[in-house]
Amino acid sequence: MDIRFFLGFFILTSIYSLTSASDPSPLQDFCVAVDDAKASVFVNGKICKNPNLVSADDFYFSGLNKPGNTSNPVGSRVTPVNVNQIPGLNTLGISLVRVDYAPYGLNPPHTHPRATEILVVVQGTLLVGFVSSNPSNPNQKNKLFTKTLYAGDVFVFPEGLIHFQFNTGKTKAVAFAGLSSQNPGVITIANAVFGSQPPISIDVLTKAFQVDKNVVQYLQGQFWTNN
Ligand SMILES: *[C@@H]1O[C@H](CO)[C@@H](O)[C@H](O)[C@H]1NC(C)=O
Repeated sequence: MDIRFFLGFFILTSIYSLTSASDPSPLQDFCVAVDDAKASVFVNGKICKNPNLVSADDFYFSGLNKPGNTSNPVGSRVTPVNVNQIPGLNTLGISLVRVDYAPYGLNPPHTHPRATEILVVVQGTLLVGFVSSNPSNPNQKNKLFTKTLYAGDVFVFPEGLIHFQFNTGKTKAVAFAGLSSQNPGVITIANAVFGSQPPISIDVLTKAFQVDKNVVQYLQGQFWTNN
């Protein structure tokens, strides 16, 4: 068969996978989500409220000026503003968070399975970073991309990659971030691996982390909370 056919097919499938890599494009002006509890069917996203009943409040959230409570073991708090807070975000592929950090507070290593994140520091100093996927060449390592950010600095965490922010300053820090999904999802690595319910088999974790059973038992015994 013609090489141009294959080339064309390859380009088309590449474009398709690019455009379908994130939340789908909306097929109408808006599709304001109805209350989950009242929905009788599940779709990929949420079902739409009758457009005649939609009002400005469906696109509105108030209170992001208020600091989150950072009194927890990691010393940070994420305040999300996604489709669960603003039903009008349904199908629009975007959301927002505010993150507060106590002095030396940490937003621990985590991933967003459905979103790239772009973060701006508005106060304080943050050490941030993300780690690339496992390399195809066995001689290479997962690569850390890291930077110290100050007020006004912006950093990007690509979709799905493990990332963190650590307040290295003696004062509190504040950041806001946009995420390329109405519902980015969060997987906090330590919580998912050591705090799952029910727990992952100790045999699995001792081999995966190459440590003694006692270390795994100690980690599984910690009180893992989401910030
Ligand atoms: C912050 O959270 C801590 C721990 O849950 C709680 O004791 C404290 O009352 C909270 N502070 C405020 C201002 O809500």
